[in-house]
Amino acid sequence: MKRSHRCNELNISHVGQSVRLIGWVQSIRDHGGLLFVDLRDRGGITQIVFDPKLEKFRDMHLLRDESVIEVHGTVAERPVETINARLATGQIEVLAEELIIHNVCDPLPFPMEDSKSEQVGEDLRLTYRYLDLRRKKSYQRLFLRHIAARTARNFLDENGFLEIELPYLFKTTPEGAREFLVPSRLNPGSAYALAQSPQQYKQMLMVAGFERYYSLARCFRDEDLRADRQPEFTQIDLEMSFIDREDIYALIEGMLTRVWKNTLNIDLETPFVRMPFKEAMNNYGSDKPDTRFAMKIHDITGVFKSSSFKVFAQSVADGGVVKAFNARKLASLSQGEMKQLEDAARAMGAKGLAFIKVEGGQWKSPILKFLSESEKKCLQSELEVEEGDIVFFAAGKWENSCNILGRVRLECRDMAIKHGVLSIGGDMFNFLWIVDFPLMTFDEEQNRYIATHHPFTAPISEDLHILTSNPHAVRGQHYDIVLNGMELGGGSIRIHQPDVQEKVFKDILKIDDNVVDSRFGYMLRAFRYGAPPHGGIALGLDRIAAIICGTSSIRDVVAFPKTQRGQDLMSQSPSVPSEKQLRDLFIKFTAVQSPR
Ligand code: AMO
Ligand code: AMP
Repeated sequence: MKRSHRCNELNISHVGQSVRLIGWVQSIRDHGGLLFVDLRDRGGITQIVFDPKLEKFRDMHLLRDESVIEVHGTVAERPVETINARLATGQIEVLAEELIIHNVCDPLPFPMEDSKSEQVGEDLRLTYRYLDLRRKKSYQRLFLRHIAARTARNFLDENGFLEIELPYLFKTTPEGAREFLVPSRLNPGSAYALAQSPQQYKQMLMVAGFERYYSLARCFRDEDLRADRQPEFTQIDLEMSFIDREDIYALIEGMLTRVWKNTLNIDLETPFVRMPFKEAMNNYGSDKPDTRFAMKIHDITGVFKSSSFKVFAQSVADGGVVKAFNARKLASLSQGEMKQLEDAARAMGAKGLAFIKVEGGQWKSPILKFLSESEKKCLQSELEVEEGDIVFFAAGKWENSCNILGRVRLECRDMAIKHGVLSIGGDMFNFLWIVDFPLMTFDEEQNRYIATHHPFTAPISEDLHILTSNPHAVRGQHYDIVLNGMELGGGSIRIHQPDVQEKVFKDILKIDDNVVDSRFGYMLRAFRYGAPPHGGIALGLDRIAAIICGTSSIRDVVAFPKTQRGQDLMSQSPSVPSEKQLRDLFIKFTAVQSPR
């Protein structure tokens, strides 16, 4: 069944040659007397001409699109008027002499053209994912992902990294994302957890002296799913010994520069901008700011210290802040859009979303009557309010107020783009390192500190002395890499001293001694056997691929993704296990949902 050529290879120099091609029927056109078939394989398209008057091709017109055929024939030059300049093979066609039908395609559930199939519901496309993937665009996306992954591999290889596979079956650990459990048949009553990341194993490789490790690691997290989150995803994961943060920044900048060059042929500018966490929150209301547009958030707490607007004055009196940003040229948002913004603010915990807009030279706002002339003057000069602008406010605790406006700011970005008052070039790649994160974040719900990144992150050494006395103020040696508002990756320099690690677990995170012993005891022990200073990072390959492909959903760059409900619609997983399987694993389900 060997083909002589691929469907993109034949040109004028092959005229007169006998060839054998195999592929999918892209289309059949009946041109009075002759049938023209566009035959497609991974490489491209070749036009085949059949003469249906010949007995052997009599039923040719019954053949449906996407059937798989093999054609033997002779290459011929096309008549001048039928030359297709857009096609690599546009100067020739193959006159069919023999046809073998390998597979007849059923009627298609949706049209295969990129433009049409994207109108089709995603669920239907995922049910027939093999057809969805057969589209040119899908192929191009997975091809670019392949180039990105290969580039990363080669780059790390050149830099002395060893690719080492690490276990997916791990032990369950507190402090991370929700895990998938895998009951152990050989150890009744026990379960593995699918690794959320190879974090602990890669640190053990450093203790083992490998110095530079990487892998393209599959990670599993039972989280609520979104456009940028899958329950299983891939990290470009690495760890190094005897380095500091600067080494990681330089390495990753080098790697991403090469990836962007090889995939998009774009030269990135390095070094990437570095922004402390506080600055990101203060100016953009997010620890993954989109800096491709302004609408910067301002702190106007001072303006409202003794305001007669109670909501703001009270926040200041309670030690909180008042923040605001100018959403330029958006004064004419519809009521529905204003409601959408308020809902977004409420979803982040706001009690309301105060605003002031300027229309026809007038300031308009439900809160205007509470503001003094001098307050208005201050607002005017701080926020540079102009005709057609609208300013949004948040008052309350610092972090909440930042987060609320950060969210509203992104909604305003989308609305501004929709209304044509903002444009963001598709070739803008605003890479940022977010640094100086707090090591710990206080979790109101659990009434205790949790690790901002993970509990293995080392404190900045100048802050080490206040680790127990003032954990809130301790900065971590943690860094996130952010691109256009998306967190691409994160990592840290790790703790490698057993006493510091133990202090973090027990004194700061308040994890019970017995839990520390059972979950992390082996790690503390390992750190007493010659642990080198080390650190690392993991980058989300799916997210990198999505951005490179210009799509907002990582499902587009995953061959067989799960839906929002964590289902693979093609194979219909998850599914109900048999009684015997459950018995073997000593499991009983207490709730059963009927499959969809
Ligand atoms: P972290 O949890 O920040 O760090 O993950 C690193 C990167 O992985 C990607 N990512 C995801 N991608 C798709 N779907 C998901 N559900 C998902 N969750 C995370 C993101 C993220 O930035 N072990 C540490 C790294 C380290 O410290 O070295 C870790 O896993 O792009
Ligand atoms: P009230 O006087 O409570 O009706 O609030 C007046 C306006 O301020 C309304 O538009 C509310 O949506 C808004 N608002 C209330 N609390 C806050 C807050 N903490 N931050 C920003 N706006 C608020």
